[in-house]
Amino acid sequence: MRIPCAYANWKMNKTLNEALDFVYEFVPALFSDINEGSVGVSIFPPAPYIYPMRQELGEDSPIFIGAQNIYYEKEGAYTGEMSGNILRSAGASHVLVGHSERRHIMGEDNKTVGRKLARILRDRLIPVLCVGEQLRDREAGKARDVVEEQLAVAWEGQEVTGGALIAYEPVWAIGTGKNAEPRDAQEMADFIRSWTSRFFTPETAATIRILYGGSVSPENISQYARLPDIDGALVGGASLDTKQFLEIAKAIAETGPGGTV
Ligand code: PGA
Repeated sequence: MRIPCAYANWKMNKTLNEALDFVYEFVPALFSDINEGSVGVSIFPPAPYIYPMRQELGEDSPIFIGAQNIYYEKEGAYTGEMSGNILRSAGASHVLVGHSERRHIMGEDNKTVGRKLARILRDRLIPVLCVGEQLRDREAGKARDVVEEQLAVAWEGQEVTGGALIAYEPVWAIGTGKNAEPRDAQEMADFIRSWTSRFFTPETAATIRILYGGSVSPENISQYARLPDIDGALVGGASLDTKQFLEIAKAIAETGPGGTV
């Protein structure tokens, strides 16, 4: 069974105190109403907050902490970069890779994303591979081709291990308030799941979790959470507000993976 996920990408926001306040408020409020096992929550804060947030949560907390970025080399003279070992030793279990801001602002291409994904898997971290087309690709009817290439180049020569996730985030929907039509999101999630079945195995396709991301809010989350091939959300802007992210996480827990409940 796929446990549904509510993942928070804080990007370059919040002070350390604000990040810790989130821990104090969010965790007790979330588990006062729902079972710990009903939703997987991972927070991707700015990297310097990974360790203090992990410490504050405690080792037994069901909340995961993830990194927003990683470098593909194992270790060495790469000033300013962070390896899988560094991130894991600081308390990260998950890593975002291929996020559209990394692709389109920092210029990371599919090959770089693939090298980073390989490093995440080798260093026994859990990847959240982000894929998604730009508006011009969708308008030209090329959304699937773009996503397929992103998937194929990233996963080339690699196995899916340890609960890897894929987030479908149409670039034009990120941070814009223009969320994708649920019908389009389902169609792409179905395409991604079928692709994983062909590229890996039907068992992988049945277990891999696919998230939707792009202007998710408490108002629109239930439209996505109930879709058969969507197992939760990767939330940017709305995750910065504790109350909003709580509502989103609860809605995802209530709907279940792929809207099965
Ligand atoms: P958004 O960001 O929810 O602010 O659109 C999503 C993301 O970047 O993962």
